Amino acid sequence: MISPKLESERLLLKNWELKEAKEFVKLAKDPKLIFGDMPFPYLLEHAQFWIKKVLTLDDKYYFAIHEKTTKKIVGFCWITIYLKKNEGLIAYGLGNEARGKGYATEAGRLMVNFVFKKLKLKKLLAETKADNFGSHKVLKKLGFKVIRKMKNGHRDVITDEIQDQWFWEAKNFL
Ligand SMILES: CC(C)(COP(=O)(O)OP(=O)(O)OC[C@H]1O[C@@H](n2cnc3c(N)ncnc32)[C@H](O)[C@@H]1OP(=O)(O)O)[C@@H](O)C(=O)NCCC(=O)NCCS
Repeated sequence: MISPKLESERLLLKNWELKEAKEFVKLAKDPKLIFGDMPFPYLLEHAQFWIKKVLTLDDKYYFAIHEKTTKKIVGFCWITIYLKKNEGLIAYGLGNEARGKGYATEAGRLMVNFVFKKLKLKKLLAETKADNFGSHKVLKKLGFKVIRKMKNGHRDVITDEIQDQWFWEAKNFL
């Protein structure tokens, strides 16, 4: 789907452009930013394919996170829409240098507002590993609560390490 431009004080969220594929590859050198079925190592051709493909998917808003002062891409985030259930799921990842500045919370808030105010979905979901304390904090600040903990529910796609997985939910409060 073509994503809307979402803007906060410090960040601009918008569609990835093909010319930005190199920036995507740079971020994806960090194994912490390999999600789902992303290949690793993540190559330029993977990023180029994905940037084109994601625009054709009718259930995903995918964003590059731009830092407004430097105009650099500092991370990515996305919303998966489960239209039949009237729900969405958010996920996010920041490059190493952009962490600890409140950016995940700021980008998360833009997505939450978009989903609840504009799309008017009734619920948002998120998933984390049991030890991702940074992400736990972000989600709590965004109004999410843990609804389920699954023993050994997460397998790291790179290391094969098994961990508990936590499922989070926020109801539309706007
Ligand atoms: C997890 C992640 C998204 C946090 O992003 P961030 O921009 O650093 O988060 P914020 O700066 O908005 O931090 C929010 C709070 O979490 C805290 N926090 C951030 N990282 C933390 C960590 N590793 N351990 C404990 N607390 C942490 C911050 O101090 C802040 O707390 P405060 O509000 O009391 O000051 C980022 O580290 C990241 O991208 N990690 C790799 C990918 C990932 O794990 N994505 C989430 C998958 S569920």
